[in-house]
Amino acid sequence: MITTQGISSSLSARRELPIGLFDSGVGGMTVLRAMREQLPNESFLYLGDTARMPYGTKGVETVQRYALEAAGKLVERGVKLLVIACNTATAAALPLIQAAHPDIDVVGVVEPGAEAACRATKSGYIAVIATSGTIRGRAYEEAILRRMPDARISALACPLFVSMAEDGLLEGPLAEGLAARYLDAIFRNPREQGLEVPDTLVLACTHFPLLRSAIAHVVGEGVTLVDSAGNTARNVRRLLQEKHLARGSGPNVGMPLCPGSVRFLTTDDVPRFTRMGELFLGIPLAPCTVELVTL
Ligand code: DGL
Repeated sequence: MITTQGISSSLSARRELPIGLFDSGVGGMTVLRAMREQLPNESFLYLGDTARMPYGTKGVETVQRYALEAAGKLVERGVKLLVIACNTATAAALPLIQAAHPDIDVVGVVEPGAEAACRATKSGYIAVIATSGTIRGRAYEEAILRRMPDARISALACPLFVSMAEDGLLEGPLAEGLAARYLDAIFRNPREQGLEVPDTLVLACTHFPLLRSAIAHVVGEGVTLVDSAGNTARNVRRLLQEKHLARGSGPNVGMPLCPGSVRFLTTDDVPRFTRMGELFLGIPLAPCTVELVTL
């Protein structure tokens, strides 16, 4: 027989577990960054499947297999909640991962991003940019239309933004040139012809927030740029509170990383993961362990 005391002690043991996040690589650290800000008492276990990145150019079945393996590794290590910190993996595999792990909450980044877009738009005309896989799956379009059935959506794959961000080319003529090449068709050209342009642009890929200023420069004034990170973190905070799984205090208070507050797993090249991770997280990874794993 399970006693009330037994239930509450297993709940308090679960409360101490980290939140698990995974991405194809370091991009999901833009989500981790928002989570650390909004959940300062929590600890995190982050997996970057760098050996098999990018996911965005792969077929849906391959992404599903990779994502299930990454999620399985985090659950095996022990996490209290799982965040798919990758748009492509969320679009391809969220229901599969939820079905594979019915005992823990699994949160994706597509719904929070769609929610942010619907809140931001005034005209109901929204542009979505993402990897080829995310655009092909139409997950954002469906999530936006579910909330706002009369929304008009322009969706565009911008795969080269991923390598651009990984190379640290975040602003300047190269970044702006590429942004113009992709985005002029939706913003500048119609504007020059006196046509309506979207008033909201969803950065529906973990890498794109790093290119925010180059993208903002190209799309011009009057366009609100939104991404999933902040909303995902807010949803996770709410969920943990509802489930009585939020930690009252923990190792993460104060923003520099402290040992134990975040642990990293990568499937390839620890030094590169560390270097790239610092770019995406915005602070040194040095106090944390980065462990090489196979999936
Ligand atoms: N993390 C992926 C996403 O958000 C981008 C990188 C990749 O293609 O693997 O869609």
